[in-house]
Amino acid sequence: LLVDKGNHRHFMAKEIYEQPETISHTLSHYVDMGSEQVSLREVLPFDFAELTRLTMSACGTAYYAGAVAKYWFERYARLPVDIDVASEFRYREPPMEKGGLSLFISQSGETADTLAALRYCAGQGQHVASLVNTLESTIARESGVVFPILCGPEIGVASTKALTAQLTALASLSIAAGRARGVITAELEAELVRALTALPSAVSQALSAETQIMDISKRLSKAKDVLYLGRGPMFPVAMEGALKLKEISYIHAEGYAAGELKHGPIALVDEAMPVIVVAPSNELVDKTLSNMQEVAARGGKIILITDAEGAKTVGHGVADIIEIPHVHPFVAPILATIPVQLLAYHTAVFMGTDVDQPRNLAKSVTVE
Ligand code: G6P
Repeated sequence: LLVDKGNHRHFMAKEIYEQPETISHTLSHYVDMGSEQVSLREVLPFDFAELTRLTMSACGTAYYAGAVAKYWFERYARLPVDIDVASEFRYREPPMEKGGLSLFISQSGETADTLAALRYCAGQGQHVASLVNTLESTIARESGVVFPILCGPEIGVASTKALTAQLTALASLSIAAGRARGVITAELEAELVRALTALPSAVSQALSAETQIMDISKRLSKAKDVLYLGRGPMFPVAMEGALKLKEISYIHAEGYAAGELKHGPIALVDEAMPVIVVAPSNELVDKTLSNMQEVAARGGKIILITDAEGAKTVGHGVADIIEIPHVHPFVAPILATIPVQLLAYHTAVFMGTDVDQPRNLAKSVTVE
């Protein structure tokens, strides 16, 4: 298999810039643009309407995809969701009601802990579904149904386009589940599908903030610690932002639920600490912005990722605003991953690290 970097300096950059295309590709598999409906091609060995629980397990970035999807399945399909990192899940040996659905998210389809979690669930009489990029993988082979993410080979160790493809597929699945469970009307389905189909061009627009992001990244590269905050589905996006920064720039970073700030991490905030707040406008944005003011009051350097609506309501004390296009709140977590990827990428480039092959990390972790 021959994949090259094209005009990009790193595979990671190429993969970040491919996302308008890869998201379109994923969408063309799950969504029928004509009827504005999700149409699953996979034969489901279960009925979403009958499910009482969805259990997801994954590792690394794939885990954060599931963590975002939890909000979607709960809100749009009213389906109770459990999600855990596979290495914890497998040894907890949780009791499971027969006939539940277990979903495993894995780009490679070979991650040892995720596979072990899958085998445990199969043994517990669960329907086993997986969301993978590599269709000939072990996880795919051992699944009752396989949902492809179709983003093409991902070479950079730090996952980017696989994440947005996983999210796009999961968003589609949550619509299918919501419709089957009678939660989503035809009208709402059309609205959500339109939100999804608007993503590729919104992602292109978000990518055009690169010059500004390079400037911010130059300053980030001098930091010792960086805090990422988010609320609701932006909380996993904040954790993903922190993971990405750690992985490739080796700067310590933490992702935190904005509402938990005052229960600990605020003690760390001083003038030297950049705080990245992921808060596109939605019904919770005011709460996140007020958490942000608590940071500003202590001299923390705030970098706010929001849309024009969110930017309007911001008071003083924000060092930088990275503006992303306004999209439907349903798809906003997918779009918000773009600036956090670019921030990590450019910070790492300033640090001079090996972006595509960061030290101590592997693309696929097939040992425990
Ligand atoms: C490794 C990779 C990450 C990836 C994780 C899970 O840690 O470096 O990029 O998110 O494994 O991999 P998977 O193939 O199961 O998605």
